[in-house]
Amino acid sequence: MNRRQLLLASAGAGALRAVPAAAAVAAPPTVDGFPMPRPENSLPPRPVRQDPARTLLELGWRFHEGDIAAPAPAGHAETYLSAMAGNAIGAAAVLYDDSDWAAVRVPHDWAAAQPFVESANISQGYRPRGIGWYRRTLLLDPADRGKTIELHFDGIATNATIWVNGSVVAHSWSGYASVYADITPFATFGDEPNVIAIRVDASAWEGWWYEGAGLYRHAWLVCRAPVAIISDGVYCDPRRDAAGRWQVPVVATLANSGRAAATVTVEATLFDPDGHAVQRASVAATVPVLEQADATLTLDVGDARLWSVETPTLYTLRVHVLRDGGVVDVRQIPIGFRTIRFDAERGFFLNERPVKIKGVCLHQDHAGVGTAMPDALLSWRLQRLKAMGCNAVRMSSNAPTAELLDYCDRMGLLVMDENRRFNPSPDYLAQLEWLVRRDRNHPSVIIWTLWNEEPLKSTPQGVEMTRRMVAALKRLDDARPVTVAMNGAFNDPVNTSTEVDVTGFNYYQDQYDVYHRLVPTKPIISTEDTSAYQTRGAFESDPKAHIATSYDREAAGWGAPHGPSWKMIADRPFVAGGFVWTGFDYHGEPTPYEWPTISSFFGILDLCGFPKTAFGLRSAQWIDDAPVLSLAPHWTWPGREGHSIDVVVMSNAEQVTVSLNGRELGTQAVDRFLGNHWKVPYAPGRIEVVARRGGRIVARAAQETAGRPVALRLTPARGVMAGDGEDVQPVTVDAIDAKGRHVPTANLPARFTVAGAAIIGLGNGDPNSHEPEQSPPDHGARSLFNGLAQVIVRAEVGRGRIVMTAQADGLAPARLMIDRLAIDPPGQVPAIAPQQRIAQWRRSAAFDARPSPDLAPSDGDNNSWAFVRSGTPTPVETGGRWRVYRAAITPWRAVAAGGGMLRFAAIGGRAELWVDGKRLADKADGAAGPLSARVPAGAGARRIVLVIEADAGGESGILGPVTLAAV
Ligand code: GAL
Repeated sequence: MNRRQLLLASAGAGALRAVPAAAAVAAPPTVDGFPMPRPENSLPPRPVRQDPARTLLELGWRFHEGDIAAPAPAGHAETYLSAMAGNAIGAAAVLYDDSDWAAVRVPHDWAAAQPFVESANISQGYRPRGIGWYRRTLLLDPADRGKTIELHFDGIATNATIWVNGSVVAHSWSGYASVYADITPFATFGDEPNVIAIRVDASAWEGWWYEGAGLYRHAWLVCRAPVAIISDGVYCDPRRDAAGRWQVPVVATLANSGRAAATVTVEATLFDPDGHAVQRASVAATVPVLEQADATLTLDVGDARLWSVETPTLYTLRVHVLRDGGVVDVRQIPIGFRTIRFDAERGFFLNERPVKIKGVCLHQDHAGVGTAMPDALLSWRLQRLKAMGCNAVRMSSNAPTAELLDYCDRMGLLVMDENRRFNPSPDYLAQLEWLVRRDRNHPSVIIWTLWNEEPLKSTPQGVEMTRRMVAALKRLDDARPVTVAMNGAFNDPVNTSTEVDVTGFNYYQDQYDVYHRLVPTKPIISTEDTSAYQTRGAFESDPKAHIATSYDREAAGWGAPHGPSWKMIADRPFVAGGFVWTGFDYHGEPTPYEWPTISSFFGILDLCGFPKTAFGLRSAQWIDDAPVLSLAPHWTWPGREGHSIDVVVMSNAEQVTVSLNGRELGTQAVDRFLGNHWKVPYAPGRIEVVARRGGRIVARAAQETAGRPVALRLTPARGVMAGDGEDVQPVTVDAIDAKGRHVPTANLPARFTVAGAAIIGLGNGDPNSHEPEQSPPDHGARSLFNGLAQVIVRAEVGRGRIVMTAQADGLAPARLMIDRLAIDPPGQVPAIAPQQRIAQWRRSAAFDARPSPDLAPSDGDNNSWAFVRSGTPTPVETGGRWRVYRAAITPWRAVAAGGGMLRFAAIGGRAELWVDGKRLADKADGAAGPLSARVPAGAGARRIVLVIEADAGGESGILGPVTLAAV
């Protein structure tokens, strides 16, 4: 069943659904008055794959934590060789023995598995990062010989060197920019494996937040026809002309890795959201050898259904490259038709309608998984934001992962797309240009931002640096405005706001009016505001225990609580909107505290995505088209009977009326910014609120006093999962009382088992917890924090059932079953076992008579013995049919310990095989044929010698691969 069929099936009668155990999913838990979303019986959207030439390269990696120093070469010959292409040494060497490295799958964040250590960097969440190595072996189909082969790493934290087959193919200086390495000239085909080695230096950092470590985004192998569109090579951002007609100008950048210039046809077809082709055009382009050429055409669309926040309508542009009548390349790019405009008086306009930007800043990590964010979890997080009326995200302060933009296009979230480094020097401009090329077709992207809070902002250097970066950006995208996130200096005589289209304010909310008065023609946006502190589920600050109340009272000195912060923006039409710091908590930056606090307090949702009180307030502030109502705190305060409790009601209705145990406590006109407040003497029972509009009740919410916890409960986000080995979801763990009510005060250790899926992360949203966030795949442990914990699971492959249990001492266990549906896994480059191959040989001159097997070149003699690769025949010269071939190798662990089999696939000529001075085997037949011998155990360098006598007229030498393998 494919995804579309599944969605149809789940929508109709007999829908595929989870089969919850008795305790599970009876009633969704409420947190601070919010019902957790009910489990859905649908699958998460798979990200759009625009480029079918890319195949995931995520399984079969090996990982070593820590650096591996390359051994100093012994002698001149080794030094000489180590300086040559293909001859990287140490862990980058083709033949390095990685058999004791850990098997891992990418995306992989090794920092997420680290303990919290006080001496490690506070901003990175007290997790040691350091250096790590990855290796992967892969085979390329002989049919792909002649094609363009690339490796794509969407994100490596932080600096990296990548080798393929012993040669450096890329250096990466950003943890946020993709690495596209063209490995065409280095690649081998057929049964000769390609070896990728990557040294990742995560002791470097680019931010002041948790950045993870390693290959933490998707990795791909790309295999394109010799003449094809380059990576990110289609530019197709729709435009509306003066007459109101929509056009799609298309520029496809082609490259030719072949040996002759080629003329191809580029054909672009626009499909409407129902899949009907609505426009088509084509153009011919000639691409010179090893050069690039642009194919340019325009689709005249006329009317189009518009993309908006409410209705994110997407069309698809399909671009074909045709050569000699056949399709050689294709891209499928979702695009949206919308206009954008920032107005200095009235803010942001989407499709000529004012839209207040209700945004959040995000970092890219989540509880448990760190920065190795699975696509499905990312999509779940964005849905949580959308559910509170958020309409925009800013990935602060770095380039987002491509999948985020894809989801934002589909969900109708606006994006402030951000560059990391403030630096117009060529290396860093290249990072900015990569970002713009990759992202400029996304309808969700409405503005670029170049940097965040740079101290040079009010200097002539800062102005000049910004000017150059803006120019570079505008060369690639003249349709979107550019901003920078300034913290002050807005009205300094020299400042960078003069260089950008929109002035970005980080905090300094009291300066909005001043700036607007002094520079009335410049649009303003709050790039960052609020920085309020809340601990989810806590309603009393305790600075000693590093706890911040979840009443909207605490904020950084430079920020403001959610209520007043949004009011400053909402009351000013000339402020286009804002981005709250932050949507979710994140690891690192534990402001205002330090050790032992390891994550932030700024989130509207916690590290697990559980809503704090701020979620209710923001929902009341931001949602206009549906009733919003919640109240806080919870109502379980044993021992506090008779004490006054502050009750806050958050609603977007007109009036709210609170009652306790059936007795009305009064009605107030709604304050959407600050919420409505009551002082209520605590009595156990039920506190309830009704919201009215026009006198009619539009919503009700309540909190009930819970008894002591008697059982655990498991609530999945979805009742079904795709059995594709990729699908991931968070499962909520809470404790319930005898009546099945969520117990918000439960702080108790719980244990889990999972079958049919793997645990990939654990969390509970407590910024002060040092419990491990990772566990073995089939069992784990985590304490409930203020009533909640989270287990993140990844479904195994194939149809079946996921069974999860939760246990806590003295409580009834919970059991959850989730149906795993048969969904094809996405294609992956097959993993193969690494092999020790002896490819590099030295070959003596030709002799008339049998030479001694001891014959060897002297150290420093780079010339009288040739360097030959296995698989290379040697021409038979007259007068000298004898030659010696020598190789030195260090057997891998298994062979060193137990001996192994040395196999020559084909030798031309009669041959003697000598290993470490012992004659191990002979080949008597002069025709090409195999030779093998058992090699005894023994570590360290081993000497392999062949003495070959060529047959007259035949091909001589080492004609095929040579392998040494354990038996
Ligand atoms: C800002 C900064 C953010 C974060 C925030 C915390 O100054 O841009 O990255 O550090 O402060 O309040």
